[in-house]
Amino acid sequence: MPSPIIQLEGIRRIFPMGDETVEALKGIDLTIHEKEFVAIMGTSGSGKSTLMHIMGLLDSLSEGRYNLDGEDVSAISRDKRAEIRNQKIGFIFQSFNLLSRSSALENVELPMLYRRPAISGRREKALKALEMVGLENRSDHEPRQLSGGQQQRVAIARALVNEPPIILADEPTGNLDSRTGDDILGLLTSLNEQGITIIIVTHDPDIGGKAKRRIVLRDGNIEQDETN
Ligand SMILES: Nc1ncnc2c1ncn2[C@@H]1O[C@H](COP(=O)(O)OP(=O)(O)OP(=O)(O)O)[C@@H](O)[C@H]1O
Ligand SMILES: [Mg+2]
Repeated sequence: MPSPIIQLEGIRRIFPMGDETVEALKGIDLTIHEKEFVAIMGTSGSGKSTLMHIMGLLDSLSEGRYNLDGEDVSAISRDKRAEIRNQKIGFIFQSFNLLSRSSALENVELPMLYRRPAISGRREKALKALEMVGLENRSDHEPRQLSGGQQQRVAIARALVNEPPIILADEPTGNLDSRTGDDILGLLTSLNEQGITIIIVTHDPDIGGKAKRRIVLRDGNIEQDETN
């Protein structure tokens, strides 16, 4: 039985908005096990990105407990959060978020530059990650010299390069045509088969249907959680 890799208990996230507050997450209880492939769905504003940011240690929680890969990360410092994030999580975003003046190779090397102690053999590792996404022959290209699908592959290589156990993707196919989106989904599926836990936020029911488990948020709560 795979062990839990993400355990959330009673997670609330409350944003101050002037004199008022917005409660984006209202008490989320959720356990995700190693090697799962999970789609997070729900209407706009239901809290998907907020949940992803908390799971990915990009944001802190207002209330509740979060255990990530056996470690309590509910109340750690910003620096510690960044360190664990860098080791445990690879991110993929809808808009790719690549550095526009840097080559594909340099973009993929980036997460390794933040590691202490520094990672040796960065170039080889970045090339290997580009190879995994089928872009070894585009390593010198800048993002504007690549198609949207290729840019997203660079972003996936960047997410993979530190060999994180978890990949979080927020609408990774949202800016791609459906065929290119299918290719990207196929790539994520094969990474999942190699043992990486994949959590993907999507509006697309086709993608949701291909995930082994679907979690539907509504107004900051889990409305539905079903496994194929
Ligand atoms: N930094 C913030 N400050 C204040 N309110 C916020 C902040 N971030 C999110 N919210 C609010 O929290 C709620 C959930 O937002 P979130 O971005 O998680 O939704 P989402 O499900 O990702 O939506 P979408 O599908 O449109 O991306 C929304 O009502 C939003 O306005
Ligand atoms: Mg969102």
